[in-house]
Amino acid sequence: MSQLHIQVAHKRYGARTVLEGVNLRVERGEIVSLIGASGCGKSTLLRIVSGLDRDYQGVVQLDGRKLDGVTREIGFIFQEPRLLPWLHVADNIAFDIAHTGYNLTRVQELLEEVDLAGYEQALPKQLSGGQAQRVAIARGLYSRPKVLLLDEPFSAVDAFTRIRLQNLLARIARDHGITVLLVTHDVDEAVFLSDRVLVIGGTPGTVLSDLEIVLPHPREHESADLLQQRGIVFEALHTAHVL
Ligand SMILES: Nc1ncnc2c1ncn2[C@@H]1O[C@H](COP(=O)(O)OP(=O)(O)OP(=O)(O)O)[C@@H](O)[C@H]1O
Ligand SMILES: [Mg+2]
Repeated sequence: MSQLHIQVAHKRYGARTVLEGVNLRVERGEIVSLIGASGCGKSTLLRIVSGLDRDYQGVVQLDGRKLDGVTREIGFIFQEPRLLPWLHVADNIAFDIAHTGYNLTRVQELLEEVDLAGYEQALPKQLSGGQAQRVAIARGLYSRPKVLLLDEPFSAVDAFTRIRLQNLLARIARDHGITVLLVTHDVDEAVFLSDRVLVIGGTPGTVLSDLEIVLPHPREHESADLLQQRGIVFEALHTAHVL
């Protein structure tokens, strides 16, 4: 049984259908990227999987159970860190489930994992963009989700930070066996991180191609194998008229 089974018969905004006929299975521990033109429905699909958007025809199943709204089993990381400016880093990380008890050891473990040990008491305004996004990653992991959804998580940081964050995500996903669904506009990022790259497109939007990236992890940025896979993804984007 796949860990995630996403079926969206229709998603409409008013009279307009933005997604149609999506039937997507994701296996436990898989990293799957969604790429496609602006406005094709990638964020909409991610919001449906997260349980934030329940106004659609279809069903999302996690480990065979129908999802019914937001759950701690699914973490969401956005394009910008969305930290609460008046809370320290530690409180931001533990914020979502503060009512179940604050686990400082867990916060410290996560800060170490994202290379921010000792930043518990820092305020968001004292962090760089890359550091803030690492806090957001730690927050996304705090509740030990089975699935992590990321919507263009690294697009607001510089190129070097971006590569470091990609390496971090690859390591975390592998170490924790987390299933990852990632929206990105960056083909190199998709190919570097993913086991599968899905091209979303069409009107209404749907999965137009599903490309397996059969390369072992950890991977090297700019390796010849990755460049070859990159070519295959660009070809699929041309075929799908995304480019
Ligand atoms: N709340 C909304 N109300 C009405 N239309 C919406 C709403 N949110 C999104 N849309 C429309 O749905 C379509 C899909 O939007 P979505 O945000 O999923 O695209 P996307 O693929 O994530 O684009 P981008 O790459 O620019 O982030 C777009 O045409 C958008 O205008
Ligand atoms: Mg989007």
